[in-house]
Amino acid sequence: MHKKICILNGSPRINGNTKELIKYFTKGAETVGHEVTCFDLQKMNIHGCLGCCNGGKNEDFPCVQKDDMSQIYPVYKTADIIVLASPMYYWGITGQLKCAFDRLFAIAELNPNYENPQKECILLMASEGNTSDNFAPVKAFYEGLISHLGWKNLGIVYAGGNMNIGDILNKPEQLKQAEDLGKSIQ
Ligand SMILES: Cc1cc2nc3c(=O)[nH]c(=O)nc-3n(C[C@H](O)[C@H](O)[C@H](O)COP(=O)(O)O)c2cc1C
Repeated sequence: MHKKICILNGSPRINGNTKELIKYFTKGAETVGHEVTCFDLQKMNIHGCLGCCNGGKNEDFPCVQKDDMSQIYPVYKTADIIVLASPMYYWGITGQLKCAFDRLFAIAELNPNYENPQKECILLMASEGNTSDNFAPVKAFYEGLISHLGWKNLGIVYAGGNMNIGDILNKPEQLKQAEDLGKSIQ
């Protein structure tokens, strides 16, 4: 089945290692007929959630803040799959991605009891460290997040051993893993 995929790219380095993972993942997903939209959050004007709990009143503009989240909301709503793509920053996702993700609460506010739309989810992450110990905090965050949202995990690529822009180009096995994950989507 053809699926709609929304990628939230939290990397501040527009041509960094995370973007390479995204490129290969997208190639794989498009090869098997899926539709991919990627938002490079670093280029966008997205403010942090105000915690006002006053959103959800307007289907088209669910948040009280009018910024570039207005581009993401309609794509998020219709997407089957959400891809969280981020470098590891301090054993977590970047601020850019967390900031955008928090703002998705305005969509939940459209529903009674703040029900979240049901999605499938993928994590793509580049990092310097390359041990299971290094990835453990992010794994716990991601698993906890999607478990509470009721989302289904379709796969994770932890691309460790990458510090500088382009390091990942010397690790074809990591890029293949991202491409294969894209291709595996049914
Ligand atoms: C502020 C900052 C924090 C970082 N924190 C971690 C970390 O906690 N663990 C780790 O393995 N790498 C860490 N890194 C390294 C990045 O995850 C790594 O350079 C990654 O490849 C960057 O991806 P990008 O090229 O998409 O920006 C950090 C880098 C920066 C700039």
